[in-house]
Amino acid sequence: MNDFTYRFIPGAGDRTLLLLHGTGGNENDLLPLGRAIDPDAALLSPRGRVLENGAPRFFRRLAEGIFDEKDVVARAHELANFVFAAAKKDGFNENTLVAIGYSNGANIASAMMLLGSLKFRGAILFRPMVPLSRPPDSSLENCAVLICGGRFDPIATPDQVSALAELLRDRKAEVEVRMQESGHELADADVEAARDWLAASAIA
Ligand code: MLT
Repeated sequence: MNDFTYRFIPGAGDRTLLLLHGTGGNENDLLPLGRAIDPDAALLSPRGRVLENGAPRFFRRLAEGIFDEKDVVARAHELANFVFAAAKKDGFNENTLVAIGYSNGANIASAMMLLGSLKFRGAILFRPMVPLSRPPDSSLENCAVLICGGRFDPIATPDQVSALAELLRDRKAEVEVRMQESGHELADADVEAARDWLAASAIA
């Protein structure tokens, strides 16, 4: 399983949420968030394998906001392979996955989408940035994406959020953007927005 430490919690429904934590997080961090967004979904939550001064991440960065893009590509494929193996072992359908990522976790989720390493049915990206400067021209048709940005976020700035939304829309994803009155940290309004969006969306 590519040596990922992870949690898998079976659900009552058909949907599986892939939960991807932020820098310094672990496989336990987003379980309550996933449950709050969908009480019935199965939860798959890996821990990032890159350590930055002991803090787990999903890919290397050279400095705040400056990503090692070769590593982004390699790690996106590595994480996708982990998901395929977990789908077999834990018995979920990898074609109905909804990715939920925060910060670094949102960035690896959009890298996987842009690279086509894994086709998500949907994605909820909290405080995301543009993970690749020249992503391939893949098609994201049938992929619904909710982006939740923070109006005062100095890291995942509103400009980064709009640039990512544009990249995904160019590739035919159905993108909705919500800007919260907050910084990089998650707000209660994020959880409500995600829950409502997922309940209203056509994602199986
Ligand atoms: C973070 O702190 O995780 C960053 O702002 C986002 C990233 O490095 O991917």
